[in-house]
This record gives sequence, structure tokens and C-alpha cells, in this order.
Amino acid sequence: MTTRRADRESDWSDLRADWEFRPGVTYLNHGSFGPSPAPVCEAQAEWQRRLQSNPMDFYVREYEPAYFAARERLAAFVRTAAANLAFVENATYGMNVVANGFPLAAGDEVLFTDHEYGAVLRVWRRICEPLGAKIATATLPFPFAEGKTGVDAILDAVDRAITPRTKLFVFSHITSPTAVIFPAAELCKLARDRGVRVCIDGPHALATLPLALDALGCDYYTASCHKWLSAPFGSGFVYVHPRHHAEIKPPVLSWGRIQPAVPTCWTDELMWQGTRDPSPYLSVPAAIDYLDAVGFEAYRERTHYLARYARQRIEQLTGKPAYVPDDPTWYGSMICLPLAHGDSRALQQRLRSEFGIETPIVDWNGRRFVRVSCHLYTTTAEIDFFVESLEQCLCETNSPRVPRKFGLKDYMYVAWFRDKQLKPDEEAYDWVAMFLIAANSAADAKGWGDRLANSFAERSHRHVFRQSDIDSPAKYGDYIRSENVPRVEYGVEAADDLIGW
Ligand SMILES: Cc1ncc(COP(=O)(O)O)c(C=O)c1O
Repeated sequence: MTTRRADRESDWSDLRADWEFRPGVTYLNHGSFGPSPAPVCEAQAEWQRRLQSNPMDFYVREYEPAYFAARERLAAFVRTAAANLAFVENATYGMNVVANGFPLAAGDEVLFTDHEYGAVLRVWRRICEPLGAKIATATLPFPFAEGKTGVDAILDAVDRAITPRTKLFVFSHITSPTAVIFPAAELCKLARDRGVRVCIDGPHALATLPLALDALGCDYYTASCHKWLSAPFGSGFVYVHPRHHAEIKPPVLSWGRIQPAVPTCWTDELMWQGTRDPSPYLSVPAAIDYLDAVGFEAYRERTHYLARYARQRIEQLTGKPAYVPDDPTWYGSMICLPLAHGDSRALQQRLRSEFGIETPIVDWNGRRFVRVSCHLYTTTAEIDFFVESLEQCLCETNSPRVPRKFGLKDYMYVAWFRDKQLKPDEEAYDWVAMFLIAANSAADAKGWGDRLANSFAERSHRHVFRQSDIDSPAKYGDYIRSENVPRVEYGVEAADDLIGW
């Protein structure tokens, strides 16, 4: 097979035919729900045919050996022993398996970062509350700095949040609302050194990162195979380190094994949880084979190339820089970029209804983001289409030219101009940001406007126009005031945002 080059579109076009999307849909949300390519769908259909053609034979004689074989393949893929892994329907179920048996008492703490998935928090809240145990949160520095400085800042924040009462640290390998790859091995080591167990919420890392669970040093790992691995919906796994096997209690109790066999270990209990369709589990090897045939490294390089392309284009559009370094150790096949404040649901819905684009608009910590997932079927043309559509939505929702009043702090608005149109003579920036700070003695007395302008200039490395520039026709004043300057306005909340940036 010839090597496919990450940046050559034609090298990937044959794979697109393996996915069948509804006409008119641009699918940029593999990170939430990852559809399977045709060979995986066929593998699942074949398992279902076998099941339907003689359910008795299938469940009683075929299911267990097929389950063990599929699990063996998955275990080799994630580098652990099969005895440490059980198939479950999804990462959520896996997290419930961990939580259900976890030894917690009143006063104990379960630590999270502030980037965790909401449903996972719900799982632990339900476990903690009746016991009098607590949820604690490590607030990580944001944005993330490059290299070791960025990693150390995360480790410091977590280290400071661990107390003598911390029993478990739960963190995402790759975060859902922000798409950041966390330094998992370093975090595991830190927690181990502090005597705290670790549970990694890993659905976004399976396939997008090479996983070696035994070497990683975690106590528990949960993942969905129906995200990036593109196995059928309803396939996931939970990993438990051998030292905790005896504690695990299945959230659902049934026979465990096909009678007359009886369950003898934690994974047995999860094999038979009542009658259900096991075809998603049994098709996981087909999903591994599919990506293996492309080459896992080629797959990662290509999808990162696309995510990086999306990152650059969205940054150019919004003028808001990404908050992770431009480095594959910090983000992989999925990228999240900040947007101006606004109605997230309306934007997500409009992208879908007017442009056929499926991608999440995420609210996180009082900020708004767009998250773009890239898989083998994604093209740069689709990303271009997405960015153009996004531009249309953003420009229209932020009414051009008419300055908005901002109630409480109506002395200020923030406007952005594309430098293509503004053409500042000596400036070489992609974008130019301008703050119009209206005369307001109270605001000036507080130095609020200057603080904002300075903070923004420093952090964005962009030129900030002052009121004096704007007032002076000799500089940019006439141009700025002219009617044809497009502008996108940001609410005062966005200004607050920039100060704390
Ligand atoms: C970080 C994270 N954890 C857990 C989940 C839950 O995955 P599932 O719905 O497949 O159980 C998700 C889903 O998007 C996620 O992003």
C-alpha cells in the first residue's frame, strides 16, 4: 500500500465511500457519536444474522467464545491482559461500574478537574451524596502554556487540590468540552505518589492516542468504542487494575455467565447482564482491523492535520486564539475554539438547519466554544464550508455597525476588524483588534479600559487602538468611521472575559 500523506486530499478520498451520510450533511461530530465505516457495519450485520437465525444456538454456544476472542483482540490493542477488561455498552456504563463498587466513606473526596464531562460528575455525585462524601474540583490554568510549563501548571493545580481526604482522582484523557489532551501518565504518577487512586475517563483517547493501559499507571479506565474507533454504537470497555478486581460490583445483576457456568471473577459478572444484542462488542475487532489497515499513525496524522487546519481557519475568522499550544501533544483529532458570547443552542441549530452542519457549540465555564471533530471521511473542503457558514452566522447575529449598548457597563464596546479590510500601514497582524472606550469618567477613573486594552494587547500580540487613534483622522479615524467597515461586536461579558484571559 502506498503511504497516504496527511496533507494530500486525494490520498483519503477513497475512504469516504465507507461512510454513508444523509445527503446534505456535513458531519463534524465524530467525537460525540462516531458512525462506523461499511466493513464494520457489515461485520455487525453478520453477527446479528447469526443471532437471528438461531438465537438459542447463538446465545448458548457461540456467544461466550466470541466474546472472549473479541476481548482478547481489544486487550492486545490497549496493551493489557484480557482479565483486566470487560466490555460494557459505553464509557458511561463503565464509569458506573467503577463508582458502584468504590470504597467511600463520609468526609472522603473524589477530585475532578474543571474540564470533566457532566454526566460523569452526575454518576459520582449520586454515589457520594448519600455517603456524605464530597466532590472536589481542581481548577486548571487556562489557557494552557506550551511544553513542560503547561504540563507543570496542570500538575501543580491538581497537587494543590489533593487533600488527605482525597480517595480518587477522575479526569478525562481528552476532555469533552475543551478537547484538550491531558498529561495522563504524569497525572497518574502524581496521584500515586499522593496515595490517591485514578480513574481515567477515556472515550476520546481510544484510537486517537496510542494506549498502553498497564504502563499508564491508572487504577481504572473507561472508554466508548463507538467514538473514534468507529465500532458499532453500544460498545465500550472498563479496565480495572488487578489490585481492585475483588471490589467491583456490577451495577446490573444477572447470571453473569451462561449457565451452567457460574461467574468467578469481576468480568464474568458483566458478560451476561440479561438478554441483549452483543453484536457491538463482537464487532470491535472489525473496527480495530479497519483502522489498522489504514495505519493508526497515518490516521492520527491525517485527523490532526485536519483539526489543525480547522483551528487555523477558525482563529482567522474570530481573531480569538486557541487556548492549547499548537502541538499534537495537546490536541489530536478534535479541536475546540473560543467564540464570542451568544446563544449556543441557536447557533448549533442554525448551522444544522441552514447549512446541514453537525457540530457542537459548547458552553463551558461561562464561555462559548465550537468543537470540530475530524475523521477519515472529513475533508478540508468541508472545513472551509463550515468556517464560511460559521462566519455568516456570527456576522449576522452580531448586528453590524450599530453599536450595542451594554447596560451596566455601556461605556465600552469591543470591535474587531479584519486587517485585509482595515489595511493598517505598518501593522503585519492577521487581525486587528480595536477597543472603543467611550468617555466615561467613572470607567476611566477605575482604569478599567486601559487595563483591558493592555491585557488584551499583551496576550494576543495584537495591536490595540486607543481612543486617541480613533479620534485622529490622520491615523485610522476616517477609515474606522466609514460605513463599509464590517464589525463584529462583543458584549461586555466578552470584555470581562478578556481581562481574566
Ligand atoms: C469525556 C467523556 N466522557 C464520557 C462520555 C460518555 O460517553 P458515552 O455516551 O459513550 O457513554 C463522553 C461522551 O461524549 C465524553 O466526552
